[in-house]
Amino acid sequence: MSDKTIEFIEKGRRLDGRKLDELRPIKIEVGVLKRANGSCYMESGGNKVMAAVYGPREVHPRRMEDATKAIVRCRYNMASFSVEDRKRPGPDRRSVEISKVSREAIEPIIIKEHFPRSAIDIFIEILQADAGTRTAGINAASVALADAGIPMRGLVSACATGKVGGHIVLDLMKEEDNYGEADVPIAMDVQNDKVTLLQMDGRLTQDEFKQALELARKGCKEIYEMQRQALIAKYTV
Ligand code: CDP
Repeated sequence: MSDKTIEFIEKGRRLDGRKLDELRPIKIEVGVLKRANGSCYMESGGNKVMAAVYGPREVHPRRMEDATKAIVRCRYNMASFSVEDRKRPGPDRRSVEISKVSREAIEPIIIKEHFPRSAIDIFIEILQADAGTRTAGINAASVALADAGIPMRGLVSACATGKVGGHIVLDLMKEEDNYGEADVPIAMDVQNDKVTLLQMDGRLTQDEFKQALELARKGCKEIYEMQRQALIAKYTV
């Protein structure tokens, strides 16, 4: 929290000229890695993210197998060059947490029962970070899963909402994330209207929270449409 928030919105526009309910520009490329079963490169504002899916494949170590369904594993990793101050390579508390919540956000849409005794591995690599990397990673992973041909109930789409300078805004950029009053990343299975990730850093009143949830629903719908179009573009001959 900081006095700086006051300058973050002027005449209904944000620092980068966006309206309060506007997403940053998004670019999605499907099937960019030759050795992965499915992959997706995604840009969302200043975020550059690669997602790769391997599987369904044999489970190693074997003791992790489930005789009734596939297991889903997810690793979120931030490259050391992805942020302003070099990030120490390797897992840390933050990346362990984000790997876990990303898996939990994605897992409900995968029809795991089709692949007993197998593993579906999802790798999310953040090449450039500008706030909202967990939601960008989830969006890319969801497209990569579809690219891998994994049977799914829908697509997961994610974006953050939050409070900046007293306003509820969509898709926080770095400065808004750092100095804003609240950051609320949300992931949804848009087709089935189910929330699969909801975190909150900061404080919102109940009314503000409802407003933020509605705004996230709008953002996720827009992202879902872009994910769908990217997949159609790739697979329509
Ligand atoms: O990226 P996301 O918003 O999902 O997660 P966060 O933990 O709220 O991080 C917000 C932003 O802080 C990241 O997107 C990065 O731009 C930045 N960050 C950083 O500069 N150095 C780190 N070690 C971690 C995050």
